[in-house]
Amino acid sequence: MTAVRLVILGRQGSGKGTQAARLVEAYDTVHISTGDMLRAAVGAETELGLQARAVMDAGELVGDDLINSIVAERLAQDDVAEHGFLLDGYPRTPDQAAALEGILAEAGTPMDAAMNLDVPVDEVTVRMMARGRADDTAEAIRRRLDLYESETAPLLAWFADRGLLEVVDGLGAEDDVFIRLTLAIDRRLSVGDAS
Ligand code: AP5
Repeated sequence: MTAVRLVILGRQGSGKGTQAARLVEAYDTVHISTGDMLRAAVGAETELGLQARAVMDAGELVGDDLINSIVAERLAQDDVAEHGFLLDGYPRTPDQAAALEGILAEAGTPMDAAMNLDVPVDEVTVRMMARGRADDTAEAIRRRLDLYESETAPLLAWFADRGLLEVVDGLGAEDDVFIRLTLAIDRRLSVGDAS
């Protein structure tokens, strides 16, 4: 199987992490979740974790420079060269999107597609309240969703302009969402193979 290079986008609570875990198995690729990396750093009480904890609990975004350097370092590792990647939670600002474009251009490894998991605000709010992660308080959820609208939603047009965007309905059973995602990814990969 050739290495896939994918991004999964969507509101907080849209199911990116849930679906990413299944997609990395199906496509034998590497799951790179900036949220998981940050939570691991918080758990290990590293310097990064100590810096990130309060920012995350408040629902704010960690600084672009810091996130860009963490992702650049991760993308340079051997497993990514061999298996590609599925980026989850990154990019989520215009600065991060530009940084990713630069990293991939330099490596000569273009992205295959950006999958947007489309789930309305009401539904993601219910899902996050039911999950109860440390940053799933009503106030932090509101702040994260506001930041999504102002910082991350504009990236949908950015990916669409580059011909990379696939919008997938994220409502319904997890199995159904997974099938929709794989159909869209497979269509992309077959178009790439044919060109
Ligand atoms: P991050 O970990 O990325 O959190 P998030 O953006 O809030 O996204 P979530 O993990 O909440 O949502 P998800 O879409 O993965 O949904 P999930 O699968 O869990 O980031 C956390 C923080 O880190 C940020 O706020 C920020 O501070 C910082 N950070 C991270 N990346 C950053 C970056 N690039 N720049 C700056 N700062 C950054 O599903 C949600 C729930 O729904 C689960 O309980 C799940 O079981 C359930 N569910 C899933 N699918 C379905 C379904 N089909 N039907 C019903 N329920 C479902």
